[in-house]
Amino acid sequence: MSFLSKSVLHVILFIPPFLLPKDSWNNLMNNLENHFGDDATVDKKTHNIILKFLEQNSAETSTKEASVMILDSLKNKDIIAITDTIYWKEKHRNIGKAIFLNSLVKSKANCNACHKNIEKGLIEDEDIKSIHNFSNIK
Ligand code: HEC
Repeated sequence: MSFLSKSVLHVILFIPPFLLPKDSWNNLMNNLENHFGDDATVDKKTHNIILKFLEQNSAETSTKEASVMILDSLKNKDIIAITDTIYWKEKHRNIGKAIFLNSLVKSKANCNACHKNIEKGLIEDEDIKSIHNFSNIK
């Protein structure tokens, strides 16, 4: 997988495909040269493999509660950053801003800092690290 750029790997490994709809994945994959400020372009063949994988496993294909809620909260808007969805904001509303910015987390998009198995598609409560200690970290 070394031919895949870091940003693409980040998207694939850290945001499970079932957390975004097909259109959002499509959108995201078609804008890789401007992927949240990073150039994340890959060759056409790789691009197609990834897109197919994402589409085949997108939120529409999943019966998980999170997928259903995300589709519902997106309605027809094509938001590509999951952290901009009402669903995501709602689920994380009790977490202070400072926690997202501390040195362990660094960014809202660093899902893995708190969801230890998110790259395996696990978002259940038992996979969420205890974030209470995080508030003491600067
Ligand atoms: C600072 C830690 C932190 C970060 C970073 C974070 N989360 Fe969370 N997330 C949580 C906590 C804590 C909960 C549980 C909230 C609750 O149940 O009250 C949660 C809940 C969720 C849920 C709902 C799970 C459920 O079954 O209700 C989803 C989906 C989720 N997060 C996805 C993500 C994604 C995707 C990212 C990255 C874009 C992310 N989170 C980043 C801490 C975090």
